Amino acid sequence: MVFLRLIMQHYILGIESSCDDTSAAIICNDVILSNITANQDVHRNFGGVVPELASRAHQQNIIPVIEAAIKKANIVKNQLSSVAFTRGPGLLGSLLVGTSFAKAFSLGLNIPLIEVDHLQAHILSHFIRNDTRSNPVPDFPFLCLTVSGGHTQFVLIRDYFDMQIIGQTIDDAAGEAFDKSAKIMGLPYPGGPLIDKYAQSGDPKRFTFSKPNIQGLDFSFSGLKTSFLYFLRDELIKDADFIEKNKFDLCASIQTTIVEMLMTKLRLAMEQTRGLAKSGPAKARGWVDVAIAGGVSANSGLRKALENARDQFGWNIFIPPLQYSTDNAAMIAIAGYFKFLKGDFSSQSATPYARDAGRGTFET
Ligand code: KG4
Ligand code: ZN
Repeated sequence: MVFLRLIMQHYILGIESSCDDTSAAIICNDVILSNITANQDVHRNFGGVVPELASRAHQQNIIPVIEAAIKKANIVKNQLSSVAFTRGPGLLGSLLVGTSFAKAFSLGLNIPLIEVDHLQAHILSHFIRNDTRSNPVPDFPFLCLTVSGGHTQFVLIRDYFDMQIIGQTIDDAAGEAFDKSAKIMGLPYPGGPLIDKYAQSGDPKRFTFSKPNIQGLDFSFSGLKTSFLYFLRDELIKDADFIEKNKFDLCASIQTTIVEMLMTKLRLAMEQTRGLAKSGPAKARGWVDVAIAGGVSANSGLRKALENARDQFGWNIFIPPLQYSTDNAAMIAIAGYFKFLKGDFSSQSATPYARDAGRGTFET
């Protein structure tokens, strides 16, 4: 049975609805056929995602998005082998929309249901192939810096579903640091992409903000937000137009501070995992392969910093294509495919979880 699963072509529908993006994707084994996402603009002026509005928008978007994904993949729904959905972590009302749809779809088509952890899926997005040619994928074990709106973690990946969190934020996530800094400057939500855009035209050394001294591989971002807030409060007393006049330099400086905080810890994590590599181009130097994942991995400053580290230290790096950095269903579909091969199916009684599956090690 497992052997048959390995040699056949399997079409998996992936559904992602954990936050404010409704997304559906179809994968044929590990090759992506379609990946359709409906973003929700309703949250822009609220400074963050409004859970009730997000659930309602998912309800409106889910059927058209799934229909579009099936159409773009040029298949019919009876060809699907399985349906994979994000079970958590995320907003409960949002997760319920995707979960309920996936359950009904699986019952209606009599195909297996597969639950996927959102954070594992961000990491597994590095295994998506864009066509049948083999693009390089990380070698196990590898290190991933997962940086999103809700999480900032170092994960050591020994196998597809053997992942260990070896460091994480003790307060805000890196994405929150971007979004909250943007909100303080009066920019709409999500602020990360806007800070990235404005930073391109600014001087990253113009302003400096203090960085916390946190031990080991953990992070803290809440102090940065506070120091940014107090800095602007003082400057605005002297000049009411301070933000507008210095927008580009402020964005470049805050982005550089966040990226430096991430990269300092990443260098430490690479030192600590040195020697674990079994094979691969960087093995001679002892480095494990290193990947970034999650919405903040779209940040041009972080991507550039990782490329610089590759050139400087000889790391073998994996940066996801932009469409797989922020929330998407392609990553749910690839995680679903690997679970499908294992025969790891869920029951109709599976319920969403809002918080992390477990501190330290992922639930599998
Ligand atoms: O992974 P994601 O799409 O959703 C979560 O799982 O949280 O990550 C969203 C986060 C938001 O905080 C958003 O501001 C941030 O990723 N983000 C960025 C960029 N694009 C998205 N942050 C900095 N630079 C970007 N280019
Ligand atoms: Zn995410």
